[in-house]
Amino acid sequence: MTVTIVGSQLGDEGKGGVVDLYGDAVDVVARYQGGDNAGHTVVHDGEKYKLSLVPSGAVRGKVGVLGNGCVVNPETLFDEIDTLRDRDLEPDVRVAERAHVILPYHRALDGIEEDEKEDLAAGTTGRGIGPTYEDKAGRRGVRVGDLLDPDVLRERLEYVVPQKRALAEDVFDKRTGEEFDVEHLYETYREYGERLANEGMVVDCGTFLQERIDAGENVMLEGAQGTSIDIDHGIYPYVTSSNPTAGGASVGTGLGPTVVGQGEVIGIVKAYLSRVGTGPLPTELGGVEGQTPDYDPEEGSDDEEEQLATYIRDEGGEYGTVTGRPRRVGWLDMPMLRHAARANGFTGLAINHIDVLAGLEEVNVGHAYEFDGEEILTMPATTEKWGRCEATFRSFDGWPAVDWESVAEDGYDAIPENARTYLEYVAAELEAPIYAVGVGPGREETVVVENPYSNN
Ligand code: GDP
Ligand code: IMO
Ligand code: MG
Repeated sequence: MTVTIVGSQLGDEGKGGVVDLYGDAVDVVARYQGGDNAGHTVVHDGEKYKLSLVPSGAVRGKVGVLGNGCVVNPETLFDEIDTLRDRDLEPDVRVAERAHVILPYHRALDGIEEDEKEDLAAGTTGRGIGPTYEDKAGRRGVRVGDLLDPDVLRERLEYVVPQKRALAEDVFDKRTGEEFDVEHLYETYREYGERLANEGMVVDCGTFLQERIDAGENVMLEGAQGTSIDIDHGIYPYVTSSNPTAGGASVGTGLGPTVVGQGEVIGIVKAYLSRVGTGPLPTELGGVEGQTPDYDPEEGSDDEEEQLATYIRDEGGEYGTVTGRPRRVGWLDMPMLRHAARANGFTGLAINHIDVLAGLEEVNVGHAYEFDGEEILTMPATTEKWGRCEATFRSFDGWPAVDWESVAEDGYDAIPENARTYLEYVAAELEAPIYAVGVGPGREETVVVENPYSNN
């Protein structure tokens, strides 16, 4: 069977940790979208692993697959594999022939276009994700399978590279270097193709996964990013360029929607909000220079909201895994989560980071929005409307900091009562049961209520 792990908010909800948590029963972990814009953290036995591209199952020695819906930077891939090998892991990574390749000009253009966009810039990770998906949709992309066929690779590059160079030089008035040079790219990427072939890494993803499922193996589908930065269901244009939502798990692996739908879809929820990047955020606390619209704090100001934001940011280590940028933080946004529950059809929830909020006197939740004088319970479809929404809050009594590791050992009822009230409110609003509660970053700091692999 399959279990699909989906971010229900703005990314960084703790997806990597949940993949690892249930990883014991899993044979194959497949990523279905995104690329090295992701930063997934797994903490086990005091060891911390940060993975951008290699699926999080690698930490438990599982087969990891980068599905056809992913965009793959071979340089990052091999660097990450080599780094894991240096740490005595033996990552077994396969890459879909149909996945698209991030080339150096994609990264260059990502930066150039972000600078040009000003207010419309999404604050991307600069990894070339958007430009690569653009070329995929424009039918001028280079796929992993093409790297293994030098004639096809040359043909593709000879067509596309002059266009990219002209775009950079003539439209954006930039000087270009070897990242826009056909010969250089051909030699470098042909070699990546050889390494992929020599290490037997290239697969037809859908067939590969279906065969494993037919053989009775358990497959996990690991989403990157989150629902509100999904290109279709998120806060366009402040989004990533792929579909983190559960439908992407079918398209991005080649497994049928009925196969994915027969399994479980677990929504990963952070107990508050965090965001790297720009765009509105109705439940935001304080702000972050350069990412929060109209953020202009008074010199030396240190108001209560700002202090609270700083407190949560520091307690939760809310600094980007990929870029190190301070993340914007806010209270939980229920309209955002109701939207996610519908778009993904969650069968279960993992709610993380309740330890981070411990010690606060009260914990607020944006229960609804006030929009043009009306109360609404879910997100409007345009970001302009979303920006006009004012959150209306419900307040919950806070809970104390406790020995979370022993709570995890003792089980759900050991969670402080006020935190359980909070958790049960979220589950009731989303009409999905709680499968796990994160009470710290480590594998041992998670309260497991249900293991989806033993439900079937
Ligand atoms: P992902 O992108 O969804 O995999 O999440 P990230 O790894 O980018 O960010 C989540 C961060 O929170 C990581 O540093 C995790 O180790 C950490 N984390 C995950 N779950 C919990 C939790 O329940 N409590 C705390 N304090 N940290 C957690
Ligand atoms: P994980 O998998 C949080 C955000 C970027 C930017 C927007 C577009 O760790 O949850 P991109 O580089 O994808 O074109 O940037 O999306 N973003 C993420 N935010 N977590 C992520 O991944 C993200 N991946 C992209 O900050 O606003
Ligand atoms: Mg992350």
